[in-house]
Amino acid sequence: MGASTTTNNPFKDQPHYLTKKFLPFALYCLLPLALLRLYFYPIPLSSPHYSLITTQNHQELEEESFYEINECDYTNGKWVRDKLGPLYNGTTCDTIKEGQNCISHGRPDMGYLYWRWRPKQCSLPRFDSTTFLRLIKNKHLAFVGDSMARNQLESLLCLLSSVSSPTLVYRDGDDNKFRRWHFASHNANISIYWSPFLVKGIEKSNTGFNHNKLYLDAVDNRWALDMNKIDMLVLSVGHWFLHPAVYYEGDLVLGCHYCPGLNHTEIGFYDVFRKALMTTLKAIIEKRKQIDVMVTSFSPSHFEGDWDKAGACPKNRPFKEGEKALEGMDKEMRKIEVEEVEVAKEKVTHSPNLRFEALDVTGLSLMRPDGHPGPYMYPFPFANGVPDRVQNDCVHWCLPGAIDTWNEIMLEVMKRWKAQLRRPTG
Ligand SMILES: *[C@@H]1O[C@H](CO)[C@@H](O)[C@H](O)[C@H]1NC(C)=O
Ligand SMILES: *[C@@H]1O[C@H](CO)[C@@H](O)[C@H](O)[C@H]1NC(C)=O
Ligand SMILES: *[C@@H]1O[C@H](CO)[C@@H](O)[C@H](O)[C@H]1NC(C)=O
Repeated sequence: MGASTTTNNPFKDQPHYLTKKFLPFALYCLLPLALLRLYFYPIPLSSPHYSLITTQNHQELEEESFYEINECDYTNGKWVRDKLGPLYNGTTCDTIKEGQNCISHGRPDMGYLYWRWRPKQCSLPRFDSTTFLRLIKNKHLAFVGDSMARNQLESLLCLLSSVSSPTLVYRDGDDNKFRRWHFASHNANISIYWSPFLVKGIEKSNTGFNHNKLYLDAVDNRWALDMNKIDMLVLSVGHWFLHPAVYYEGDLVLGCHYCPGLNHTEIGFYDVFRKALMTTLKAIIEKRKQIDVMVTSFSPSHFEGDWDKAGACPKNRPFKEGEKALEGMDKEMRKIEVEEVEVAKEKVTHSPNLRFEALDVTGLSLMRPDGHPGPYMYPFPFANGVPDRVQNDCVHWCLPGAIDTWNEIMLEVMKRWKAQLRRPTG
């Protein structure tokens, strides 16, 4: 794969070139698929419960009414200009991964920082760190997944650190793949577990296999063994499923994706992705009596040209409403996630302490071609003019940036969960 296999390849955990290379295959697979059934949250449960709170003290009363929010379809909306700008920057937050620290890497345009997502049905409040910390008080929130999980986690840590600074209390693995922070102010822990398939997998490496091996019937114990110590899970995977891989169920080979020379049947990655999610959500339901689970939906990338040439994702403003439709692989990956979360929700309708929600951010993120680091994954890429070859990251998101919105929506879901928990009828 030419330049992409060089040892200093910065995409070692995010093979963008594969997306491009396999796109024709992906599109080919998509043709027979049925049209996406748009997903809306169920009809709001809206009976207010003011009467319940009359005997509580003032502070609790404030809290109650604060959490009294109805469901809203956050997917339906548009990006609007926002004078306020982000809650943090590279000076106020020191947990931004190098490759996403666009401002300090000299990204010259600042316009991408001044947009807010405005849903049609409701207002999406600016992130409130105090409320978030109150909701995770005495809890352990764990992000599990690939580098998009890390991107969202780092956005959250930065948003929260405007109120309370976390202490890194644990780190393990190359590239800090397993980490935990402690917020002493709220006795809350936030952690990240590297698990790009959620199920058991052996990742390809320069020295071992040149394809991944996925065991679709077994959940990845690197995170699952800790499940009893986790109160809320954010699962975020997707891009690693595009890699060449061989798929197993027990000892049986189910097939593969892009494995020339191995004599296995090509089965693509959509069914595999669905199966990995099913195994994961089922394991959670079987092992836990009480947990909140958020599944962050697929994050679209925005390559317009060669990934190693200047101008790979050159846009500097969001798409306008209606300018860009959700289609192809982005649409299919999201659909699988949303559907599997719905299945999980149905299974737990009688278990009020097991809650699942899709954090459906694919569509709103698709509208932000301006939000990626592009060449600013490295510091000052054009300091000596425009080189022939410039590596670009058009997959992850600059911090601060569009991905902060994911955490704003997550907070709204958590507030709604809290309000529902307090309803006497569940
Ligand atoms: C970062 O944020 C702080 C506090 O809001 C502000 O004083 C500072 O000017 C900002 N720095 C940059 C580079 O934007
Ligand atoms: C957070 O982690 C610390 C260890 O760093 C542990 O003592 C504490 O019990 C944890 N708290 C929660 C709520 O998980
Ligand atoms: C490939 O698989 C087929 C069907 O299982 C088998 O007949 C064939 O001998 C295999 N070829 C090689 C080279 O292993």
